[in-house]
Amino acid sequence: MRKKIKVAIAGVGNCASALIQGIQYYNSNPNPYSDIIKNNTDGKDHENQNHSSLTDTNNNSTADNFIGLTSNNIGGYEPSDIEFVAAFDVVDTKVGKDLSEAIFAPPNNAIKIMDIPSFDVKVQKGDVLDGIGKHYSEMVKISNDPAVDVAKILKDVNADLLLNYLPVGSRNATGNYAEKCLESGVGFINAIPVFIASDPKWQNRFNDKNIPCAGDDVMSQLGATVLHKTLAKLWVDRGVKIDETYQLNVGGDMDFYNMLDEERLEDKRISKTSAVKAMVPYDVPMRIGPSDYVNFLKNDKVAFIHMKGRFFGKVPLELDLKLRVPDAYDSSGVMIDAVRGSKIALDRGIAGPLESISSFCFKHPPIQMPYTQAKSNFLEFVEGKRDR
Ligand SMILES: NC(=O)c1ccc[n+]([C@@H]2O[C@H](COP(=O)([O-])OP(=O)(O)OC[C@H]3O[C@@H](n4cnc5c(N)ncnc54)[C@H](O)[C@@H]3O)[C@@H](O)[C@H]2O)c1
Repeated sequence: MRKKIKVAIAGVGNCASALIQGIQYYNSNPNPYSDIIKNNTDGKDHENQNHSSLTDTNNNSTADNFIGLTSNNIGGYEPSDIEFVAAFDVVDTKVGKDLSEAIFAPPNNAIKIMDIPSFDVKVQKGDVLDGIGKHYSEMVKISNDPAVDVAKILKDVNADLLLNYLPVGSRNATGNYAEKCLESGVGFINAIPVFIASDPKWQNRFNDKNIPCAGDDVMSQLGATVLHKTLAKLWVDRGVKIDETYQLNVGGDMDFYNMLDEERLEDKRISKTSAVKAMVPYDVPMRIGPSDYVNFLKNDKVAFIHMKGRFFGKVPLELDLKLRVPDAYDSSGVMIDAVRGSKIALDRGIAGPLESISSFCFKHPPIQMPYTQAKSNFLEFVEGKRDR
């Protein structure tokens, strides 16, 4: 009998939709190699497991089914081990619907790759607080249902983890869900740029309650942040002086519409800028953040990265790069690892901020580091060679 990961979701938007559809996709392509890699959740039995078995997608050219995953098996957990047990939203198109239908309700516009059978999990109404900003409220109607007791529901369904997928700027609503996790003993994974896992006050509170938290602000699988920070590190390592850089992002979903409100944006700019800044050991003029809403792009995000500098002989050079990605799927390719890593932490009784998972999967973790080092630390954590 495989161990399951019981996941609750706050915010049934595009990211939730892509995660759920992606998991269904990998579940409908059973892994022909699943018997090879045995459970390794206690971190002790790794005789048959090393980095290469954790990156099985890379080493099995026939394993086409796993394309898009860093690994089908992480510490014994496969995508099929993730179960959705509760979901919270506040808008009338989603509250009251089964989660399998709510992910396709407007204004969600992530591409559909799978039909989803009923989960028998109704989306319930959370506390609205500052979740719905001025732009969001032009597009949605708040459900008339009464708000439920989130902490009680998390306990009743025996959730392991709550994923926070609220709109940018939801500081109070995010804090409220983090409180519910502390009340109910459920691990918290924060996909959004409100600072919880990277804030010492919250870190202490999660530590004191013996509950893990990971975050903040998911770093997409092949998104603008991981590209930009990796390029910045490359320039520095190759002795190329960076004189200025910017990263402009546009998209056509509710995330981008909500971010037209500059007041809600502050934490997103801090989060994205800090990831690049940490790679450069000197000050560089930089402007990084969401830049506009272009409705016909739907859930596609287009990022423009510009870097200008000088190399040998102080001779100038410039780099301009355009990246276009279906944004929600970009985030899910990483959240599936954050979920599995956080469950391993729960299994091992590890509490407080999960440092290696957060550095690997998030833009604003407790500790910033280059991507390759973060991945290596994450794999060591999974293998039990690193505490957190
Ligand atoms: N690649 C990515 O898509 C990516 C990367 C990094 C971070 N993020 C962040 O992840 C978050 C989710 O992104 P998305 O595209 O799914 O956004 P979305 O706007 O599609 O979904 C947000 C959902 O939260 C719901 N909501 C609002 N207030 C709520 C409350 N108080 N309680 C419960 N639900 C509430 C909304 O109704 C909506 O369904 C955003 O903050 C985004 O910036 C996304």
